[in-house]
Amino acid sequence: MAETYNPKKTKLLHLLFILTSVGILTVLWFAPKEKTHPLPHDENHARFFDMGKKEAEKFCESCHNPAGQAPLPEKHPPKYRCLFCHKRK
Ligand code: HEC
Ligand code: HEC
Repeated sequence: MAETYNPKKTKLLHLLFILTSVGILTVLWFAPKEKTHPLPHDENHARFFDMGKKEAEKFCESCHNPAGQAPLPEKHPPKYRCLFCHKRK
């Protein structure tokens, strides 16, 4: 006998669907907002906006180094590819 409609099973599936949706929405809601500071628009950084990314990144650490004029914060994440995180907008 083919099982065409089983109300109990259907209800369970609906419930599962709702739970999954709510779960995904909750995760998205609490996901960290993009808060990493973008590349500043100022004299120091102007020239990097129309330079290749890899090209530009060679210069960052000339100022952003421990002895430079703008050292990175102590708890800075791994700094490989600056512009990947500090977007140019
Ligand atoms: C000529 C020196 C110099 C170079 C080169 C330089 N910076 Fe900076 N940067 C500064 C100084 C000084 C500050 C702090 C004052 C400011 O916000 O401009 C700063 C601030 C920043 C900030 C913080 C912005 C904020 O909103 O707090 C970021 C991010 C940054 N730089 C990224 C970069 C990246 C990425 C590069 C390479 C593409 C780079 N910088 C190259 C001097 C430099
Ligand atoms: C993996 C992502 C990531 C990479 C790669 C990265 N940063 Fe950051 N950076 C951050 C985060 C997160 C912070 C702390 C939040 C903020 O202040 O933007 C930060 C903070 C900074 C700050 C201080 C901003 C402030 O307002 O105090 C500077 C300057 C900076 N980064 C420059 C650089 C430079 C230069 C490079 C490349 C050598 C680099 N970052 C690579 C994620 C990154």
